[in-house]
Amino acid sequence: MKENKVNVKLILNDSEKICEANIGDNLLDIIRKNNIDFDTPCNGNGSCGKCRCKIKENTEIGASSKKHLNKSELISGIRLACDTEIKSDLTVELSNKIKDMTVLISGVEKEFKINPSVQKHYIVLEKPTLDDQRDDLMRIKDFLKEYLKIENIDIDLNVLRKIPKALREDNYNITVTMFDNKIIDIEPKDTTNNNYGLAIDIGTTTIAVYLLSLYDGSQIDVISEVNNQRNYGADVISRINYTLENPDGLKKLNASIVSQLNNIVKNIAKRNNINIDNIYDTVIVGNTTMIHLLLGIDPENIAKAPYISGFTEAMELNPKDIGFSFKSNISIMPGVSSYVGSDITAGILSSGMLESEKYSLLLDLGTNGEMAIGNKDEVITCSTAAGPAFEGANIKHGVGGILGAISKIDLSKEEKIETIGNQPPCGICGSGVLDAVSEMIKYSLIDETGRMFDEEDDDFEFEEYEYLTKDLVEIDGMKQYVLAKDSKGDVISFTQKDVREVQLAKAAINAGIQILVKEKDLDFNDLEYLYLGGGFGNYMNVQSSLQIGMIPLELDGKIKSIGNCAGSGAKMYLLSKEYRNLIIDKVNTSKYIELSNRKEFQDYFVNGMMMERIYEPAQKYTQNQGITVDTF
Ligand code: FES
Repeated sequence: MKENKVNVKLILNDSEKICEANIGDNLLDIIRKNNIDFDTPCNGNGSCGKCRCKIKENTEIGASSKKHLNKSELISGIRLACDTEIKSDLTVELSNKIKDMTVLISGVEKEFKINPSVQKHYIVLEKPTLDDQRDDLMRIKDFLKEYLKIENIDIDLNVLRKIPKALREDNYNITVTMFDNKIIDIEPKDTTNNNYGLAIDIGTTTIAVYLLSLYDGSQIDVISEVNNQRNYGADVISRINYTLENPDGLKKLNASIVSQLNNIVKNIAKRNNINIDNIYDTVIVGNTTMIHLLLGIDPENIAKAPYISGFTEAMELNPKDIGFSFKSNISIMPGVSSYVGSDITAGILSSGMLESEKYSLLLDLGTNGEMAIGNKDEVITCSTAAGPAFEGANIKHGVGGILGAISKIDLSKEEKIETIGNQPPCGICGSGVLDAVSEMIKYSLIDETGRMFDEEDDDFEFEEYEYLTKDLVEIDGMKQYVLAKDSKGDVISFTQKDVREVQLAKAAINAGIQILVKEKDLDFNDLEYLYLGGGFGNYMNVQSSLQIGMIPLELDGKIKSIGNCAGSGAKMYLLSKEYRNLIIDKVNTSKYIELSNRKEFQDYFVNGMMMERIYEPAQKYTQNQGITVDTF
């Protein structure tokens, strides 16, 4: 081994990989260089505390490790990878939480008339004679004009090249594939059934690819995966930072998504036994940063004031220009602004709000709380910097929606928690975070300002639930409520700081809702629905969102979860020219409100920090003994 070279053994689940590194290299860089999926929500800037790994050898403790890890973790060799400098041979155990993520693929499906931009027409042409010497293309165009009333017909050179052979292979019986008025394919025989399209939803965390028949509109298959860009940060800002901090950062993130989509499309065609060349249209939606990264457009200005993106309008693109290995036309759905992307416009479309007289709200909660108010005449949108608390980031024991994540909490029950997949608890995901705060208010473990109960200063309100206070402890000077222990016996708790994070997020969301409603001079009673989109909106307990004051209580009874509404909207855009035109038109005339520019935002925000108890504790039915915690 050369002088400054060392070996790093990376152990991941049951496999291991020995990698070469230089002394002085950063451990996270080595993990990334070796293409290992590893959760790094803050893109390695030391703020999230999630890139934990266990190192066998004794290593120095970096400042971020000191900040995020407790004494026993540090003693057992746990370090943050982004904070660890390699100085000798190392054996590193990684716990990979990325691949087990649950992905929401179902949304609200509406019934509508199928009328896709891509249509296949089986036509039987008259054969040429000495009296009829029209060339092949003219013969096709004349037929399309006369019988199908298609004017101004266009064609690409690569399709033109196929015509002479295709026409004569089956005696002038051909199938012509049109994208609006452009001929995009010519095949001999009747192939009208072999007409497929894709709707792709590129989320910051997950990707869903739907295969649909453009012949009858049916969904044939769906593949969903964790977005491989996750290795470069959990949220859009971390990914943009990666492109700024690394000279080839944009190239890497672009290559990551393009190659992941190439593989998924290849697989979905193969496993359904369809010819990949019969996929003619692919509609792509995503937040504005995801779309920039897909197209290799520098997203730098999205992250800094005045927050200007390269583009937001609808696009029809050539797959080759993007780097796709399949031939389908690429339709990019229009977005509104840097922080209201086409995933939200797709949600607006699928919610149905554009088809109603009455106004409705749409709320999509992720790192940002994107929201819209609209009806058949107009749409107004805004985005609040809600922070990633509901994605598990910035929460001490927060995790994404992975197996084992605590997703439901009910303090009245003997089993206080439920986990995803009923697996042993490993952390708290967004819906669990929401429940934690809601339940703590309900049972008087925090007061309306968010302060945790203190037995020295406060009287506990509900005698029959007083045992719950036993799980309120102080660890390393931080008050926290213990929810469970993980498989290694380590405590999973919700801290005072976590409560504050949730208060900030929910106050921002509440303020956004209030401003949108006020913008239209409406009352909450005037609204038809509040649609909740996205994974978190689908899994969260609506009562908890009302209890913590994130959603105004007046909207109780009008709240509808619409699942992966971005995917549903992409499918509608793929299958219906009418819906395609409708959303393009509404986006063109929509209004975007920059909340940071609104004076009243601050007032709503400050008021929104409070959390009044609206639900009483459940009737007591059993005694719980609490969890024993070792503090140090
Ligand atoms: S602290 Fe290391 S990736 Fe966030």
